[in-house]
Amino acid sequence: MEKTILRARVLTFHRAPFGLEDGVLKEGGAFTYLEDGGITLSGGHVTALGDFSTMETSGETSGAQVIDHRPHLILPGFIDTHIHYVQSQILASYAGSLLEWLETYTFLEEQKFASPDHAARISSCFFDELVRHGTTTAVAYGSVHAASVDAFFAEAERRNLRMICGKVMMDREAPDALRDTAQSSYDDSKSLIDRWHGRGRGLYAITPRFAITSTPAQLEAAGALLAAHPDCYLQTHLGENAEEIRYSQDLYPEAPDYTGIYEAFGLLGPRSLLGHCIHLTDREIGVLAETKSVAVFCPTSNLFLGSGLFDRAGLQAQGVRIGIATDVGGGTNFGLLRTLDEGYKVLQLRGERMDPFQSFHMATRGNAEALGLSDRVGSIAPGMEADLVVLDARATPAMALRMETVSTLAEELFLLQTMGDDRAVVETYGGGRPLKSGRTRP
Ligand code: GUN
Ligand code: ZN
Repeated sequence: MEKTILRARVLTFHRAPFGLEDGVLKEGGAFTYLEDGGITLSGGHVTALGDFSTMETSGETSGAQVIDHRPHLILPGFIDTHIHYVQSQILASYAGSLLEWLETYTFLEEQKFASPDHAARISSCFFDELVRHGTTTAVAYGSVHAASVDAFFAEAERRNLRMICGKVMMDREAPDALRDTAQSSYDDSKSLIDRWHGRGRGLYAITPRFAITSTPAQLEAAGALLAAHPDCYLQTHLGENAEEIRYSQDLYPEAPDYTGIYEAFGLLGPRSLLGHCIHLTDREIGVLAETKSVAVFCPTSNLFLGSGLFDRAGLQAQGVRIGIATDVGGGTNFGLLRTLDEGYKVLQLRGERMDPFQSFHMATRGNAEALGLSDRVGSIAPGMEADLVVLDARATPAMALRMETVSTLAEELFLLQTMGDDRAVVETYGGGRPLKSGRTRP
C-alpha cells in the first residue's frame, strides 16, 4: 500500500488542557507537540507519528513519498458540530433577531432545495468551503427535503469525508412548501438512515428543527426514531432567543421549560446535540448534565443574531458537555478559526477565559469527544482516520509581521485564531488525501 509521510510541526491533544501551563512537558500532559514531526499515512489512516529524524534513522521513510510542510503546523482537521449546509447562500442576511431572520430569509432559501440540482450544486460549494477552511467533519442540517440529504452524503462520499447530516423535520409554523407531517418525516428519516447511516464515513442525525416547528406528534416520531436507532445522533436548537423560548412554552404549556419539551419526548442523551443553549434555567442545565447531552456554542451566530452570550464556565461547572460550531448561515463564517476568535470575545464579555490550547482542543479532539468519535477523528495517532489541517501563521502580511514577535506555541495559536481565516489553511487532508490544493474553484 502506498505510504505518505507528512513532515512539519505537529500538534495533537490527548485531553482537555486545564490552562496554559498544562502542556506537553509534564507527565500526562494535555498534548503532544513535535518541532520536526513525521506523520505516516496509509490506507486513509495515520499509521505512525514521531520525530522525523527518528523515522529516517529507523528506515520508516524509505519508499515513502515525503511531503514537506515545514515550517507550517499540522493539527487534526477541524470539526464543526452544528452547521446548516442549506444556508450557504444566506450568510450576512440583515435581520434583527432569530425569528425575523428565519421568516425573512431562511424559510425562503430552504424552499430552493426542492430541486435536487440545486441541492447538488450547493453541496459541492459547501464542501469546497469546508475544505478551504480546514474542516474535515461537520454535523449538518439539510432542508425538509430528503433529497437535500442524499445530495449532501453523495458529495461527502465523493470526498471521503466523515460527515453527519439529517433531514429537518418540521410540520408546523413554516410555509406550506417546507412542511412535512409527523408520519412522512418519520418515513423519510428512516429511509435516509437505512441509506446513509454507517455507509462509508456517513452518519445520520435525526433532526427535528426546534420545538416551534414540530407538533407533539412529530417530536414523538423523532423520539421513536432515536429509540429505534440509538447509534444515530439527534440534533435540534435550544434556548437561543427570548422570543423563541416564550413561543415554545406557549406551544407546549405542559412542559416545565424549553428543555422539558425535548426531555418529555426522549430526545436527550449522549448523542443529542443542542445548538445554542444560551438562556437556560438551573433545572434545564441539570437535565442536560444528567442526560449527558451536548450544548453547542455557536459564537458567530449568537453575536450576529444578537441572541446572547454563552456561559461556558457555568455549564461546565454543572458538568454539561460542550461543543463549538459555526452555525452557518446564522453564523457568519465557514471556519473554526473565526469561530474560536468570536468565541473568545463572547467569553471575554462574560468575564470568562478560554486560552488558545483550550480553543484548539475544542475545535479538534474536544468536538470529537462531544460526538463520541474520538477513537476515529480529532487527534493524530496510529489508527486514527487521516483528517488533518496544515496551518500557516504567516498567511497574510499582518500575520507575518506579528509573527516576528511571537516566541511560543501558545502565542502562535492565539495569533492563528485571532487573525487567521481560510488563507491560513495551507492544506486539508481528508482520509489521507490532500483536498484543498486540488479544489476546482478559486
Ligand atoms: N432555530 C431554528 N432553526 C434555526 C436555524 O436555522 N438557525 C438558527 N440559528 N436557529 C434556529
Ligand atoms: Zn442552527
